[in-house]
Amino acid sequence: MLNLHIVNGPNLGRLGRRQPEIYGTVSWGDVMDNLRKDFLNCRLEDFQSNHEGALIDYLETLADRGADGLVINPGALTHQSYALRDAVAALTLPVIEVHLSNIYARESFRSHSVIAPVAVGQISGLGIDGYRLALLHLALRLGSGS
Ligand code: DQA
Repeated sequence: MLNLHIVNGPNLGRLGRRQPEIYGTVSWGDVMDNLRKDFLNCRLEDFQSNHEGALIDYLETLADRGADGLVINPGALTHQSYALRDAVAALTLPVIEVHLSNIYARESFRSHSVIAPVAVGQISGLGIDGYRLALLHLALRLGSGS
């Protein structure tokens, strides 16, 4: 069974309540419940932190956890964290970067990702569907899952 991890960065723990006009009204708990129903053939694990170091510590554990793939929404760290980028670059598993909003249609500082060059690809602007599509790609790429 594929073991896929979803990591969310700063401020994404308040999904559903944080600027719902931009990020939607669905809570992260509900997102995960639905993803687990959609990906019955995968073991999905999720982690969120508002702290850069905690996110990096978590990424460093992925190999020991037997992770096969990673979906990451780094929040605002997307735009400026070379430390998180280095941690992603050090991973040997496929990584998909996801953004709920279209980062290219907002403030100019959001239109640059330091993570994208070290990810397999990026999904931006498709709301919570972005997570589902990223997991689908990982399942297809890795040869199992829904
Ligand atoms: C975000 C976009 C970032 O610019 C922002 O800082 C976030 C969320 C998104 O999912 O659209 O926290 O990553």
